[in-house]
Amino acid sequence: MAAAVSNAHKRLIRVLRSACSGELAAGYAYRGHWKSVSSEPTRERIRAIEAEEWHHRTIVRGLLADLGSGPSAKRETMFWLIGKTIGILCHIGGWFIPMYGAGRLESWNIAEYEHAAALAREAGYVHMIDCLLTMAEVEWEHERFFREQIARHWMLRIFHVWQPPPPKATIRLPYAEIQSFGRVAARI
Ligand SMILES: [Fe+2]
Ligand SMILES: [Fe+2]
Repeated sequence: MAAAVSNAHKRLIRVLRSACSGELAAGYAYRGHWKSVSSEPTRERIRAIEAEEWHHRTIVRGLLADLGSGPSAKRETMFWLIGKTIGILCHIGGWFIPMYGAGRLESWNIAEYEHAAALAREAGYVHMIDCLLTMAEVEWEHERFFREQIARHWMLRIFHVWQPPPPKATIRLPYAEIQSFGRVAARI
């Protein structure tokens, strides 16, 4: 394996390990979040988001296994604790803070999967790209949902809204030349 490819392979594993634990924390945080919300449609949407995060985690674990790796035990423990703690805090932190925090985090998640897709290309794992970009697109929808929730909330006089991501269609733009990604079968 050439040095640059080997380096991209290692960086991809690092990013996916981070994403894997991030999904664990997100899953537990959203479980607490939807349970703390009283509006039925909002509860249902956050509940669906929770399910999508668990699905992402399954996919990421599969990708890590394909790369001959797996989640970091230390990171998993830490993020399990973070997720559980946020899940509990959602019941006492009011309505705005969990929505705002989730939106900010989702914005980060889009970039994380875009970064993973770029590394997959660099490392020669072209078949992983479509799956990573699909997860970035799902995170984009999550970010939009939370941003719309807090729009025009009076607390935005204190908290600044994060920079909105570019349009969803731009996620795939850097890969326009790749005709067939060779999807990771049956994972998405
Ligand atoms: Fe996710
Ligand atoms: Fe998400």
